[in-house]
Amino acid sequence: MNNSKEILLKNPYKHNGTITSTVLKKTSSKFTKKAYIESYGCQMNFSDSEVVASILSSNDYEITSKPEDASLILINTCSIRDKAEQRIRKRLNDFNHLKKNNSKIKIGVLGCMAERVKHKFLEEEKIVDIVVGPDSYKDLPNLIEKAKNNIEAVNVILSKNETYGNISPIRINSNNISAFVSITRGCDNMCTFCVVPFTRGRERSRDPNSIINEIYSLEKKGFKELTLLGQNVDSYLWYGGGLKKDFSNASDLQKKTSISFDKLLKLIAETFPKMRIRFSTSNPQDMTTEVIKIMMLYENICKHIHLPFQSGSNRILKKMNRLYTREEYIALIKKIRKLIPDCGISHDIITGFPSENEKDHEDTLSLMEYVKYDFGYMFAYSERPGTLASRKYEDNVSLTIKKRRLTEIINLQQKHSHIRMKSFIGKTICVLVEKNSKKSDLKWSGRTTQNTVVVFEKKNFKIGDFVDVKIKDCTSGTLLGDAISYSKSI
Ligand code: 5AD
Ligand code: SF4
Repeated sequence: MNNSKEILLKNPYKHNGTITSTVLKKTSSKFTKKAYIESYGCQMNFSDSEVVASILSSNDYEITSKPEDASLILINTCSIRDKAEQRIRKRLNDFNHLKKNNSKIKIGVLGCMAERVKHKFLEEEKIVDIVVGPDSYKDLPNLIEKAKNNIEAVNVILSKNETYGNISPIRINSNNISAFVSITRGCDNMCTFCVVPFTRGRERSRDPNSIINEIYSLEKKGFKELTLLGQNVDSYLWYGGGLKKDFSNASDLQKKTSISFDKLLKLIAETFPKMRIRFSTSNPQDMTTEVIKIMMLYENICKHIHLPFQSGSNRILKKMNRLYTREEYIALIKKIRKLIPDCGISHDIITGFPSENEKDHEDTLSLMEYVKYDFGYMFAYSERPGTLASRKYEDNVSLTIKKRRLTEIINLQQKHSHIRMKSFIGKTICVLVEKNSKKSDLKWSGRTTQNTVVVFEKKNFKIGDFVDVKIKDCTSGTLLGDAISYSKSI
């Protein structure tokens, strides 16, 4: 198995592979215990940690940013690549000394790795007391009690329904401006390289009423932007709950009143005209023309699509069980560019999938050359236990070749990102102010509708303002500009 290099090129809100410890700012006398939560991996994990914070808070836990203050330490884990799992095992080791000093501390592993490794975690990592899969967080209070009584505390049961629709997440990972709202869970696509269908189960959609209620409460709290989350948001379909495969017997009335992703987007855009709306991730075969048209019609739906293509080679796409061809992907890009000419487009690419040869690699580079993406996430293939690729195909591209191809892809993306950035120079664009710039406290950092980061002098503007900024210069990842006035658009 390879310890492959993975690279992230500028997406300020995708926390791929990063750690964030979480702080619950509101303190209240009802809290009698302290918990520390550390999250790894995709946005869904960060969003789930906010659900976990809510469940713990209802059970008298205050969330602390200091593991040494906590009697409960939870790690929300990622299994997508081997490297992500190695990192988590290493991190667990770091907590050994805390447990040595205080044997009462309980350590829990949540998320995809918990689901994949299951009971074995307790044997493999002696430090772990609790193992909880992504659908079982409501059982946490019970599992904590079990762990305190030295009873095996493992729950990795996957659900047939959206599990957390009625829980109001506590926004611990948030700048109080942008929030994640999950709309689907699980994935039915079974890409042959991917562990997610095994760790997050079958696809389920969330009740639109509970989605709308969550957004109402975000709006009331002053949030300005939300990202609708799912492994495959475009296949959102609400028939009244349950697994998708069970909808084959739906009645005509159910079919007529069903809510697909385009209808959900329209509903949210119309109900919350002052909120910016983003969504992630889209799967090329599921993205419909209706969705693109709704994006085009509503100003408050951001003009950015994250559209992973994984490989530019039809031969590899087929082996990956990606249900589109290179030609169909290009046709979709053309449609997006025709209907929304200024749309930002980003990608995920895997390099070195089993049997990938130089011609396949050239196909990936030429597809990138055709699209000229704004930014992207590029990974070397990492074999995952249990996936079809691991059972059927030998991991036969050497690490040296994987690394060389990855470097070529990254260099090309950097070139394209720079070209794309330069095209904004001279334009005046609306930016939602999010936080201090990393480099200077005198400057704000925010994002455009295309999801591009813009940095500018603060003047009298504040976090949460929509500001028109004239773009003067750029790097390959950031636009630099001058704030002109409050924006009329969003
Ligand atoms: N190896 C490398 N990258 C992977 N991804 C998913 N599974 C693997 C794997 N086994 C990448 C895909 C996906 C992104 C979330 O992670 O590009 O779109
Ligand atoms: Fe994994 Fe494919 Fe589902 Fe994405 S669409 S989560 S890559 S199986």
